[in-house]
Amino acid sequence: MSPSDTPENTTAPGVEGNAADAPLIVFDKVVKRFGDLTVLDHLDFNVEAGERVTLIGPSGSGKTTILRLLMTLEKVTEGHINIGGEPFSHMPRGSGLVPASESYLRQRRKSIGMVFQQFNLFPNMTVRKNIMEAPVHVLGLSKDEASERAAELLDLVGLGDKIDAHPTQLSGGQQQRVAIARALAMRPEILLLDEVTSALDPELVAGVLDVLREVAETTDITMLCVTHEMGFARDVSHRVLMFDKGQIAEEGHPDQIFGDPREDRTKSFLKSVLENGH
Ligand SMILES: Nc1ncnc2c1ncn2[C@@H]1O[C@H](COP(=O)(O)OP(=O)(O)OP(=O)(O)O)[C@@H](O)[C@H]1O
Ligand SMILES: [Mg+2]
Repeated sequence: MSPSDTPENTTAPGVEGNAADAPLIVFDKVVKRFGDLTVLDHLDFNVEAGERVTLIGPSGSGKTTILRLLMTLEKVTEGHINIGGEPFSHMPRGSGLVPASESYLRQRRKSIGMVFQQFNLFPNMTVRKNIMEAPVHVLGLSKDEASERAAELLDLVGLGDKIDAHPTQLSGGQQQRVAIARALAMRPEILLLDEVTSALDPELVAGVLDVLREVAETTDITMLCVTHEMGFARDVSHRVLMFDKGQIAEEGHPDQIFGDPREDRTKSFLKSVLENGH
């Protein structure tokens, strides 16, 4: 920090300039270890506001770990994550940064939504209640506001007529579309998607991907998406990051990564995905 820095423009490590200029998400030399296993190895990458980024790479390369760090389900071992020009994995204390406390994380993660492979809807609640739960309890919306929002989002995902159904009355694809609506109900700035179609029967995959295409086209939400659906990734993402052993092996526009990959690791990974019938 230079002596001329004022408290207003003091920034966390890895964030250049002020918040308005900074990328939305910054991974700054992030290390994640589980015991002796180094899963992310001094990982640096940025995501701009409104950007849609697809993460690809072999099993165990650290893709889910990246999303779990952003969802605050894991903590960094070393390095920093900043979001919106503010520290995220850490919080300011005195003139420095300390690991973020639970209450700091609870506040900061409101701007992030995640949909997993397993939809995890609350089985004892109607679809409407599933979607209303977090907006009412975390954002403090009135029940009427939350119910209206639930109805709008169910229309978006094509399930307006299922608002009073229970999850067990829905197909896997429909449950996943409810899970997407539930994540969007928090009006997140960032949407994290981890293999959201992998657990679905093949005939249900297209409906879920269509909903996500619609979300991508009609909102400016920032998306980080782990998927083996290469056609979908090519259509919706601005950039593809190929991970290998916790580092970025290659990154580029989807047309380049899928059409003309440069690295052998990317070539062999894409070949194996194709051979597995995805
Ligand atoms: N809680 C944990 N404890 C110990 N090891 C873990 C834990 N979570 C993840 N790992 C390990 O970290 C590595 C990266 O896991 P991660 O789930 O991020 O991979 P991935 O790229 O998402 O793989 P996949 O494509 O199979 O989902 C793996 O070797 C995994 O076994
Ligand atoms: Mg994973």
